[in-house]
Amino acid sequence: MLLLVLLLLLPLSDPWAVHGHPLYMRLPPSILQALSAHGTRALQAAQRSAQWTVNRVAMEIRHRLHECTGAGRPRPPAPLLQDPAEPGPCGERRPSSVNVTRAHGRIVGGSAAPPGAWPWLVRLQLGGQPLCGGVLVAASWVLTAAHCFAGAQNELLWTVTLAEGPQGEQAEEVPVNRILPHPKFDPRTFHNDLALVQLWTPVSPVGAWRPVCLPRGPREPPAGTACAIAGWGALFEDGPEAEAVREARVPLLSTDTCKRALGPELHPSSMLCAGYLAGGVDSCQGDSGGPLTCSEPGPRPREVLYGVTSWGDGCGEPGKPGVYTRVAVFKDWLQEQMNANPSSREPSCRELLAWEPPGEPPANAAPPCAFYARLCPGPAAACARLAHQQCLQRRRRCELRSLAHTLLGLLRGAQELLGPSPGMRRLAPTLARPALSLPEPPRHPAREQRLHPGSRAAGARFSKRRPEQRVEANGCPGLESLQQKLTTLQGTHAWILQVPAEHLAMDFHEVLADLGSKTLTGLFRAWVRAGLGGQHVVFGGLVGLEPATMARSLPRLLVQALQAFRLAALAEAEGARMGSRQSQGLGRKGHPPLSPQISPARGP
Ligand code: ARG
Repeated sequence: MLLLVLLLLLPLSDPWAVHGHPLYMRLPPSILQALSAHGTRALQAAQRSAQWTVNRVAMEIRHRLHECTGAGRPRPPAPLLQDPAEPGPCGERRPSSVNVTRAHGRIVGGSAAPPGAWPWLVRLQLGGQPLCGGVLVAASWVLTAAHCFAGAQNELLWTVTLAEGPQGEQAEEVPVNRILPHPKFDPRTFHNDLALVQLWTPVSPVGAWRPVCLPRGPREPPAGTACAIAGWGALFEDGPEAEAVREARVPLLSTDTCKRALGPELHPSSMLCAGYLAGGVDSCQGDSGGPLTCSEPGPRPREVLYGVTSWGDGCGEPGKPGVYTRVAVFKDWLQEQMNANPSSREPSCRELLAWEPPGEPPANAAPPCAFYARLCPGPAAACARLAHQQCLQRRRRCELRSLAHTLLGLLRGAQELLGPSPGMRRLAPTLARPALSLPEPPRHPAREQRLHPGSRAAGARFSKRRPEQRVEANGCPGLESLQQKLTTLQGTHAWILQVPAEHLAMDFHEVLADLGSKTLTGLFRAWVRAGLGGQHVVFGGLVGLEPATMARSLPRLLVQALQAFRLAALAEAEGARMGSRQSQGLGRKGHPPLSPQISPARGP
């Protein structure tokens, strides 16, 4: 893209001449604009990444605190890797919330549900941004749609927000430990659109949430049965997402009716339809992964999960009912996954990052490395050593997979910018304010994937962050190191986190190339003046003046600009600390245009 823009914009003009000889050349405004646009995007990515990195540790602290302060029953510090599929009662709704759901005239996305009406309904967030619904089927397991993870299968990026209580109690946000998409999920056809998500900590039985019941047999209730859908999805096709949970009652449709309505796109072996052929009542974008439950009559009625919201042709359109993944036919797969022995699975990144590797491999491979030792035919000690090595290797890969790397992959060398640097800790207290809201959240690929016109980007809301409490680390193992980690991260990322969202724009004011300074690689020394918010930096760099060399040189200028802003923020903080406002490399608002006499703040 940048290359294309460049090709269109060349040849350059505006050489600055002395005695008739061009000595300096200013890059034209169109190039500066392209640089600014890319710089702004890089800044946004850097802020999102920084925010997420900090929030992830803050969330771990909340969980550790929750465990240590004895809120709920005592819970193990590590994930409970096995729990029965249906611990205790399932599918029970609070009496006050039953009968609320009824059909409405036109409620694509549903009518408002009372708080706590669907205690198994959860929300899946990618980098803090809600993308899909999900259904709690056991203390540690959420069932959802596999398409929610298309292109984003890194469990470290996902969290699950549990249902809020009937009195509107604060919903709890739990990190995801593992994502298990159905192995036969087909992203083209949405065949087998189902995924299990394992929570990092099981939900507490004293909370407001309850698991739904899974079907006992492989069949659904007969066509015409009135079932319920719920979620935060769009209120109408291409409309905004709901602020609160919405619900609707929709009848199950027979396979024949459904096939007639949707044609060959319907794969009845893994899909079922529900809704009205007249249209008007349906799930919609953002409801994916949420529940389609039917009430099982009896002395104590139970809600049983028969469908997981998957796709539709638009939302609520006449003749186009909603399509749900048939949960009943996946019962064996679900049981198998939820009851699997932990050592039969490769350790997740979250498990490996929480693991403190011992200096020496232990005599017998213990969790999380036992997986790598299980097929090893050699003597136990040798196998344990091997498993330890494999664990370490994968742990390193996990570190690389963390969000900072993913988002900033687009910026060559940007990791370096975000690396810890001494002295930044001092900036940490400035971060005590609530997290910034971010412009332009990432679009979720799943939303663009199906070709039906209802596709839309997810809403731009971010979950509320609670201010961190400092609690005695005594008696809460691991808390102190987590708090230290948080302080370090806040300091490391302060330079970008401090910039209010509305000022998060990079402005390249001027790039002046010295025509007499051509290097062996065909680049020219240049002075660059750029602004971020009210701050300006001036730095030296190298720029190409031919299309190819220029395309090569611009990303580096972007990285240098980011670095310059980071150093400027550091210097300013340092300056403030020393009681002086003057800081190296930092200009003021309304900086005059560069002139050849101005020497660069730093050499190229
Ligand atoms: N695929 C959508 C999502 O990702 C769900 C669409 C449901 N559409 C429907 N008409 N029932 O949220």
